[in-house]
Amino acid sequence: MDNKNLIRAAFEARGRAYTPYSHFQVGAALLSADGQLFQGCNIENASYGVSNCAERTALFKAVSEGVREFSKIAIVGGPEGAEHFSICEPCGICRQALAEFCDIDRFTVLLAKSEEDYEEYLLCELLPHAFLPAHLGK
Ligand code: THU
Repeated sequence: MDNKNLIRAAFEARGRAYTPYSHFQVGAALLSADGQLFQGCNIENASYGVSNCAERTALFKAVSEGVREFSKIAIVGGPEGAEHFSICEPCGICRQALAEFCDIDRFTVLLAKSEEDYEEYLLCELLPHAFLPAHLGK
């Protein structure tokens, strides 16, 4: 799947965000190594700490379906009702969660303002000096 379609899928997922507390809606579209798409949105909770980020929603959906290798993720986020977007950086917990299931030197992160306007990073750039399964001999 090309970047434009992956970003479009992230915007679509953002439309399903449940954000009655922050009113900040995030969508993620995660592409597996074998080309499957997993979408996720942020899901908040009256007990704030229970809330889940869009990226981890997508990741946990995939892993729970038996998919554990990924190549790329697109992330979009902004306040409810936004028409123009700034890039939405993935939080530290989501960077670490993704690192568990990818090669951080190859896994690509697209931070998008629109389908045409986005920044592209490798996860190793966003999570330098990562603590990885290899530290535990895995
Ligand atoms: N959020 C995400 O979904 N992904 C991120 O990486 C950053 C933050 C969500 C969590 C919360 O529902 C809202 O954005 C405001 O922090």
